[in-house]
Amino acid sequence: MLFSSPNRLLRTRHEALVMTESTAAASRQAVLEAARRYFDARPKEPFVPGKTYIPVSGKVLDAADLARLVDASLDMWLTAGRFAREFEIAFAARFGLRHARLTSSGSAANLLAFGALTSPNLGDRRLAPGSEVLTVAAGFPTTVAPIVQNRCVPVFVDVDLETGNVAADRLEAAVTDKTRAVMLAHTLGNPFDLAVVTALAKKHDLFLIEDCCDALGSTYDGRPVGAFGDLATVSFYPAHHITMGEGGAVLTDKALFLRPVESLRDWGRDCWCEPGKDNTCGKRFEWEQGTLPFGYDHKYIYTHLGYNLKVTDMQAAVGLSQLEKVDGFIAARRENHRELTRAFEAAGVDEHFHLPRPTPHSDPSWFGYLLAVRDESPLDRTHATRYLEERGIGTRLLFGGNLTRQPAFENVDYRVVGGLETTDKLMHDAFWIGVWPGIDAPRRNYMVDIFQTMLKELLP
Ligand SMILES: Cc1ncc(COP(=O)(O)O)c(C=O)c1O
Repeated sequence: MLFSSPNRLLRTRHEALVMTESTAAASRQAVLEAARRYFDARPKEPFVPGKTYIPVSGKVLDAADLARLVDASLDMWLTAGRFAREFEIAFAARFGLRHARLTSSGSAANLLAFGALTSPNLGDRRLAPGSEVLTVAAGFPTTVAPIVQNRCVPVFVDVDLETGNVAADRLEAAVTDKTRAVMLAHTLGNPFDLAVVTALAKKHDLFLIEDCCDALGSTYDGRPVGAFGDLATVSFYPAHHITMGEGGAVLTDKALFLRPVESLRDWGRDCWCEPGKDNTCGKRFEWEQGTLPFGYDHKYIYTHLGYNLKVTDMQAAVGLSQLEKVDGFIAARRENHRELTRAFEAAGVDEHFHLPRPTPHSDPSWFGYLLAVRDESPLDRTHATRYLEERGIGTRLLFGGNLTRQPAFENVDYRVVGGLETTDKLMHDAFWIGVWPGIDAPRRNYMVDIFQTMLKELLP
């Protein structure tokens, strides 16, 4: 027969489509399988004490992470999509919160969380230029930078030596009629005193942002940190508890903060359609805002002066795969911290260093192991870190030390309340070593051995 019947043609087309789909699905599975095989075939370096460097932090990746990354790449969606949505839902659930929004980094998350407090959506409660925000100077610069970038004033309070956190009993004295918020990080995974800080926030009607970039999995009174404040932030840079390369998240339970976070992240727009979607609000051409003409496309109405701080679906896919392993990562961090303390106390390291102490009522998911040389010890911090580094043990300082002494803060308007003596002590005498899951028992034992020889060799 020269011509097929229309029905037969349709059938053939349908069959062809089914064939293409099943061929594509089979090819996809083959690619994913090959990715897993490739990962497992990669050579693994054995640990050689003294030769293999032990960094303070690192990413722990497996074949499943690579397969998920490739899976997202095969979608070729590229911007935030199904993996990002799934991650945000699963991540918020971990904290018992309603909302998580992915962003390009922990620093971006801090910028968005703080920016949300300045949103017109908050009406009279919004932070205005000159509003004061209680924080600490012993920390990471991008916990504080958003305060300054939004023309507010950081008010620095000193910290406690052995927890590395805000000296909570000094906060009350720092409150003035301009104080509007508290923005603090849980230092190296150790929660700050959430009982005192949340009570202070309630008493003075202050917003609270918890920077949990170093504290994923830490709990206070049995509840995850990040679930106490108005907003919380997390980082997924490779140093952190889980990674997606670059990435971060803002968490909140309140829609009031969620919309500004989304808007600021997504160019400042009022529209909340996900990438590739239109008319989620159902009245795309019926809005009237500002002095724009009625019906101006909601996609192009801007209610904030925003950024673009979104992630790609490939990042989110790796994050999802990492999230499945987070409890194991947290357990390994806790074990390393516990075992280092046990061994350091047994070896008398605590006679020369203040060892880190968990904040009462907390169970930290440690980011690092903080050591501060005791005043009465003849040891010198820089000699100690050089000694350790030369023997392959990575060390880091407590980030910016005392931020007020950093060049970037030279012309910044800030206040200091009650002096920063302990902050300065940490800047001069403290450093931290790693507890990340890549540190196993042989590495840990080597670290303890080197601390012991250091005490013998460096002490007069
Ligand atoms: C406490 C704290 N906040 C924020 C950040 C910034 O995170 P990111 O590197 O993802 O921008 C870091 C980085 O390590 C951090 O330690």
